[in-house]
Amino acid sequence: MSITICPFNPDFVAEIGDVDLSRPADSSLAAIKAAFWKYAVLIFPDQHLTPQQHLDFAAAFGPIEAERVLDHERTAPRLDHSFADISNLDATGRIWAEDSRQRMYKAGNRLWHTDSSFRYRPGLCSLLYATIIAPVGGHTEFADQRAAYDALPPEMKQKLEGLVAEHCIATSRKRSGFTEFSADEAIRLPPVPQAVVRTIPQNGRRSLYLASHAGRILGMPEAEGRALIDRLIAHVTQRQFVYTHRWRTHDLVMWDNRCTMHRGADYDDLRWVRDMRRATVSDVANTCEQEGIAVPA
Ligand code: OGA
Ligand code: MN
Repeated sequence: MSITICPFNPDFVAEIGDVDLSRPADSSLAAIKAAFWKYAVLIFPDQHLTPQQHLDFAAAFGPIEAERVLDHERTAPRLDHSFADISNLDATGRIWAEDSRQRMYKAGNRLWHTDSSFRYRPGLCSLLYATIIAPVGGHTEFADQRAAYDALPPEMKQKLEGLVAEHCIATSRKRSGFTEFSADEAIRLPPVPQAVVRTIPQNGRRSLYLASHAGRILGMPEAEGRALIDRLIAHVTQRQFVYTHRWRTHDLVMWDNRCTMHRGADYDDLRWVRDMRRATVSDVANTCEQEGIAVPA
């Protein structure tokens, strides 16, 4: 049986049925990829995946990113290093403490961002699987950076051509109030250059590439670059470009980090358990390399 595709918009967000991601047929995989390049966010309801099956499906899109951001604390992490733990649980499986470092760090997921733009070789796509959802709140919003690029006035498109932004995890974390990086963590994740506008190779579409990780624009006074980034993020996240995902248990949602931003909505994380794990696939190269922009030293 071939997969069923239910688009939410003509080319942004689709729900996919008639596939079991624990053992997708090659023909289903090919159809999923084609849909993914077109819609950028895919929702797969009612999937029952072991961690390994989740990783196997993710690996069909490229290499799994396994490098951590935070050093591990006293206890071993709850999940295998191939996953980002998008839960509010500590290593023992209990709801985290109000003042826990993980909680402070993950508050940054409430800001508009795209995953791993703070890595030199950034994230291509992320696959987030929900095993326990909060009964109220905890939605995830997605914004289409391709449609937002298309809607820019020609003068702005011209102004942005060839611009490079500096992305750093410390930049977004500072914005959300987390400044406690250790010296080792800071050395591991220095600022990296990323193109402000990029082309998606699979369909030739141009897209903005912004995130709260972006702090300044190279060659521009700091305040001016910052103001431009803030203005563009406000543009991308207008409601006509945004889809809000209301989670159901066993949803797997995958998004294209190259041309979308997302953010987690608030929920009472000291009351309700929300348990999700994310596999992240690395892009093929730094965005400046992909765009043919000389990578600044
Ligand atoms: C993520 C993320 C937001 C959320 O998984 O990368 O930012 O709603 N999640 O949990
Ligand atoms: Mn994220």
